[in-house]
Amino acid sequence: MHAVGIVAAAGSGLRLGAELPKALVPLGGRPLVCWAVQSLRDGGVDEVVVAVPGPQQAAFAAVLPDDVQVVVGGDTRTASVRAALAAAREHADAVLVHDAARPLTPPEVVARVLAALVAGAAAVVPVLPVVDTTVLVDAEGVVTADVPRAPLRRVQTPQGFDRATLVAAYGRAHGAATEFTDDASVVRAAGIPVHTVAGDERAAKITVAHDLALAELQVAR
Ligand code: CTP
Ligand code: MG
Repeated sequence: MHAVGIVAAAGSGLRLGAELPKALVPLGGRPLVCWAVQSLRDGGVDEVVVAVPGPQQAAFAAVLPDDVQVVVGGDTRTASVRAALAAAREHADAVLVHDAARPLTPPEVVARVLAALVAGAAAVVPVLPVVDTTVLVDAEGVVTADVPRAPLRRVQTPQGFDRATLVAAYGRAHGAATEFTDDASVVRAAGIPVHTVAGDERAAKITVAHDLALAELQVAR
């Protein structure tokens, strides 16, 4: 199977509040986007396309390996993935879509996603259980109901897809009123079942400064 990795790296990182776009922010001295590309490769992905913010295209190209394809992303994550998908080569059988914001994703997670695709799944996401008590609240913040936790999962990336299935689902989603927060929801909206494999806490997303501080502790020697 020939697998292309797409790294969504075109966000600005407002909640992190750094001077640089989030994907260029260093972790252990290396930009987040470089970590994300490396874990895809270490997990078995053959080639990588990265969607970046237009104004910083040169800065990204300067830090990424030469054989990584850089494309300009869009205003939403969905638009950025769509741009990278258009640039991904047609001979690929599988596409793994990953967030630059998950730099410490262990290659084993990537390998589990690839294995599920090889085994015949058209769509697969890494997931973790929900460990906290989870509730619904009303507009005033008053608890209205407990949510049974057992069937809940937190969804991570990379998310893996049969390439033709993902391209078709993105085609159908074009102009849809719904905002998609990940690629599995684009595919599910097209009626395709999405399978799950075990995620990993180390694949946590860096959203706020505290997340980056925790990641720095993980890479410190
Ligand atoms: N992303 C993207 N294109 C966008 C928006 C987001 O490629 N227009 C990417 C980000 O670069 C990130 C991933 O999608 O790797 C997950 O998004 P998020 O964590 O929300 O990152 P940002 O949008 O950059 O951060 P914020 O929402 O705090 O501004
Ligand atoms: Mg965002």
